Amino acid sequence: MALRVCVFLLLSIVVCSCTRYEPTWESLDSRPLPSWYDDAKFGIFIHWGVFSVPSFGSEWFWHSWKTGVKSVVDFMKSNYPPDFTYADFAREFTAELYNPDHWADVFKASGAKYVVLTSKHHEGFCNWPTNVSFNWNAQEVGPKRDLVGDLAKAIRKRTDIHFGLYHSLFEWYNPMYLQDHENGFKTRYFVERKSMPELYELVNTYKPEVVWSDGDAGPVDYWNSTGFLAWLYNDSPVKDTVVTNDRWGAGTSCKHGGYYTCQDRFNPGKKQNHKWENCMTIDSGSWGYRRNVDLANYLTAHQLITTLAETVSCGGNLLMNIGPTHDGRIVPVFEERLRQMGEWLAVNGEAIYGSVPWSHQNDTLTKGVWYTSKKTDDGGTAVYCIMLAWPENDVLKLGSASPQTGLAVSMLGYPGLVKWTPLGGTAGIQLQMPVISAAKMPCRWAWVFKLTYQSV
Ligand SMILES: *[C@@H]1O[C@H](CO)[C@@H](O)[C@H](O)[C@H]1NC(C)=O
Ligand SMILES: *[C@@H]1O[C@H](CO)[C@@H](O)[C@H](O)[C@H]1NC(C)=O
Ligand SMILES: *[C@@H]1O[C@H](CO)[C@@H](O)[C@H](O)[C@H]1NC(C)=O
Repeated sequence: MALRVCVFLLLSIVVCSCTRYEPTWESLDSRPLPSWYDDAKFGIFIHWGVFSVPSFGSEWFWHSWKTGVKSVVDFMKSNYPPDFTYADFAREFTAELYNPDHWADVFKASGAKYVVLTSKHHEGFCNWPTNVSFNWNAQEVGPKRDLVGDLAKAIRKRTDIHFGLYHSLFEWYNPMYLQDHENGFKTRYFVERKSMPELYELVNTYKPEVVWSDGDAGPVDYWNSTGFLAWLYNDSPVKDTVVTNDRWGAGTSCKHGGYYTCQDRFNPGKKQNHKWENCMTIDSGSWGYRRNVDLANYLTAHQLITTLAETVSCGGNLLMNIGPTHDGRIVPVFEERLRQMGEWLAVNGEAIYGSVPWSHQNDTLTKGVWYTSKKTDDGGTAVYCIMLAWPENDVLKLGSASPQTGLAVSMLGYPGLVKWTPLGGTAGIQLQMPVISAAKMPCRWAWVFKLTYQSV
């Protein structure tokens, strides 16, 4: 007994060796990514702010206006009085139809395992009642409520989705930032009074499990992002579960931090040797809601599932963006796409959640076929083959799957085994598509074959 207790204590000490991270990339980059994130695979990004009021062009509206983008300048000239300022839009950010419970239910139905909301975009407007912004925040002007806190509460009450926050380090037109910029980042007025206090406040108040940093124009030393991350990983209330991205100052993207985002819509088509995320938009042209959008700008369910398959096969997570309206609605097109993702994942989630990349990412013979894999309980391997188009002759040739004895093939959501034969030559198999009545088709858009290989 005494021995057992001793071993237990020893184990506890080893497990909780309580690594302290130093504010250096060498130390911070050595932190293992909390495992929930890699298992999750699919999250929802939400861009919401004062830019949702004009909802024209994109969330860069203010910047486009100031820098003379013609369509935006003309839009302002034709629709607003000459003395109208960007700040005047804030009072129309009303959010009167914002129903966070409904949002949470839609997110749950989408099959997403995490959500990342803009707490503050480059315009500087804070969606929570921060005490480091006098009146450029949602409690003081516009919604008159805590948009961040209300979503966090609804999600935690109604779902097991992980709640995360996006935060822009810089602000286009904040005078303190502009002054620091002018001083060649030798002064740090903006960081000390605005950006960093906001980040600590957000983490302490809302305990986000993703801190998605952006707008990192300026050197790492200027931001002191390594100092913040060391605190986040050592002492913050989310130190054990939080994940971060890679936008923490000039030169960090794709190199330092938690997972890599590299650039927006990063989708390399090849397995990466570091955990990464493809953040992309359902409206192919904007992150914020825009009214001047064409139906053709919205990606179809098939395009979205294709992106999910490509991303997950190569070891990435997909963070799919929607833009709510100024009055707090998720418009039906976005809701439909999210529910379609959920419809597909309800049948095929086994191939996505908790999967790992296989030795091949896409098939060597047939285009539009992507693989993931998992270990089976008895030590074998399940290979999931995601087929993005039904073959015209009902035969799928797989150059990457070997014809091993004992190989069993099935289709997710459909009972029974799928007939396979060796392709002849050195490798490969071909699958005979099962004859399925339309009423029994397990899903739309893409189908998944599970190839179960016994351990050798
Ligand atoms: C607001 O600021 C005060 C002092 O500056 C600080 O003590 C307090 O914790 C801050 N509130 C939040 C929610 O961080
Ligand atoms: C950087 O952040 C750390 C952690 O909060 C803090 O201890 C340190 O004083 C900061 N450095 C500067 C220069 O602000
Ligand atoms: C596999 O994917 C890569 C990257 O998207 C692409 O270049 C290649 O053509 C694909 N192979 C096949 C056979 O489709």
